[in-house]
Amino acid sequence: MTADAVSVPDRPGPSLDKDPRRIAGMFDAIAHRYDRLNRLLSAGLDRRWRRQAVDALDLPAGACVLDVCTGTADLAMTASRHRSRPRAVLGVDFAAEMLALGRAKLRAAGMGTVQLAQGDACRLPCPAASVDAVTVGFGIRNVADTSAAVTEMFRVLKPGGRLAILEFGEPSLPFLRSIYLWYFRRVLPRVGRLLSKHTEAYAYLPASVSAFLTPDAFGALLCTAGFVDVVVDRLTFGVVYLYVGQKPVEPEGVGGQRDVRPLIY
Ligand SMILES: C[S@@+](CC[C@H](N)C(=O)[O-])C[C@H]1O[C@@H](n2cnc3c(N)ncnc32)[C@H](O)[C@@H]1O
Repeated sequence: MTADAVSVPDRPGPSLDKDPRRIAGMFDAIAHRYDRLNRLLSAGLDRRWRRQAVDALDLPAGACVLDVCTGTADLAMTASRHRSRPRAVLGVDFAAEMLALGRAKLRAAGMGTVQLAQGDACRLPCPAASVDAVTVGFGIRNVADTSAAVTEMFRVLKPGGRLAILEFGEPSLPFLRSIYLWYFRRVLPRVGRLLSKHTEAYAYLPASVSAFLTPDAFGALLCTAGFVDVVVDRLTFGVVYLYVGQKPVEPEGVGGQRDVRPLIY
């Protein structure tokens, strides 16, 4: 199976309008409140989830890291602070206002190793096999063509390079699930609308999570794209999922048979 022959498995929910201009416009409109609302609505857990994603990369010393859908650069900054001391971190996003906020944060923190660039996850501005690790934090469900983005991430990774993707999920334990879905679908959109002054962004959040691939299906998509050792890890009872995979060191066919199923915890 080659990385450019990826098919999308079943979608569990209704399809959503993910027109890139609409999505970028929505994030630009909430950019100034985005970080504060993240902290508030996740009760501060978003920082821990990002650290867990970066730890899962097993970064070699002096790595080059690409953060796709970087937004205001929180995950790029987490990567750059990692004890392995990455040499360079590039954050890519198509929303100019989110990037402007990210650049201001980088200046304030004096972080010269992180660069931000405007670009599309489906056409990454990086040569093939040029980065040691790729991260995505809560961005993949917004991308219009999930398979194209995953294929791009595979292309830019060096052989042996690792991928870590964070995305929201829905807890499966029945009692917790009903409380969480009440919060996520009823409370969060109202609080988000009140504080962000944006009518649709925080209603789009639970809708886009329901419409995204199930954790098993997204894990399978990563395997189909060519990633190996794919692990799907449930964080905070399934409120968030962490997907980790590796680009094979050997080209397909050289290293024997590959395990093409994700390991799901
Ligand atoms: C929920 S924010 C996440 C930001 C950041 N990664 C974080 O952890 O907070 C999603 C980001 O994905 C970006 N995005 C969505 N689709 C994209 C695409 N096709 N190409 C580039 N950026 C995209 C949006 O502009 C937005 O900034």
